[in-house]
Amino acid sequence: MTVTDEGLGQLRAAVNASLAESTEPPTAEPAALTVSPVARRAAVPGMAIAPIPGEPPEVILPEGDRATRWAALRDLVLNHPVCQAHVRPGKKIVLGVGSLHAQIFFCGEAPGADEEVQGEPFVGAAGQLLTRMIQGMGLKREQVYIGNIMNWRPEMVAGAGGVQVDNRPPTPEEMNFCLPFLRAQLQIVQPQVIVALGKTAAEGLLGPGTFKAVGDVRGRWHTFAGVPLMVSYHPSYILRSQSNSSKRAIWEDLLKVMERVTLPISEKQRNYFH
Ligand code: URA
Repeated sequence: MTVTDEGLGQLRAAVNASLAESTEPPTAEPAALTVSPVARRAAVPGMAIAPIPGEPPEVILPEGDRATRWAALRDLVLNHPVCQAHVRPGKKIVLGVGSLHAQIFFCGEAPGADEEVQGEPFVGAAGQLLTRMIQGMGLKREQVYIGNIMNWRPEMVAGAGGVQVDNRPPTPEEMNFCLPFLRAQLQIVQPQVIVALGKTAAEGLLGPGTFKAVGDVRGRWHTFAGVPLMVSYHPSYILRSQSNSSKRAIWEDLLKVMERVTLPISEKQRNYFH
């Protein structure tokens, strides 16, 4: 596989266009799990969130090939009563997508507004940037696997017309509940590396309270479920941030991932953000 100029061009154009359009001030990566679940729930007054069972589900995958096992998992997750109790009426529970033989497994936080409509992870603005990054690595989106720590959009008080406008990071209980679904996807896909995108995904995989900022753990190898794990910034952080350094940082992390899975790296790719 070779990287295309088109992929790199799209990546640069996407990042630059997004930054040019952005009217938001630079913000730090959200301090997701440093807030206790109690405090976070208090931050959404009036919101009655159905309780999350303390016992996460046990997932036993059937025998069979990857497609058979993934289809069984999808059936389980989409029909799970706890997932169904939390997804808003008319919206979708979201399982990962992509190649069941992917070398690289990207793991994000949770579905947002676009994802719960389409039932697919990373299809909104952050997802489009992630797709450009994947293309910058010389791959197609369909050649990797993309999942989330959580399988439904974390609920918040709805605004006018019952529409939920904002997003919140999942609580540790919610992540703990969904973790067996993520482990099962890893068991099926057997990737060579996982890339945790953002603080919430990293805390879900490394454990709550194990680090303060993404900058403390990004750019080096960790392990989750026996699989090498790279932590990097969330694409939505890149969209919000005006800094070249965050763009460079995520690209450097992706170069390390490419090295690890022995993807070819051109000089152009290596020097892309220098
Ligand atoms: N952000 C995520 O972390 N996951 C998605 O699926 C979409 C946005």
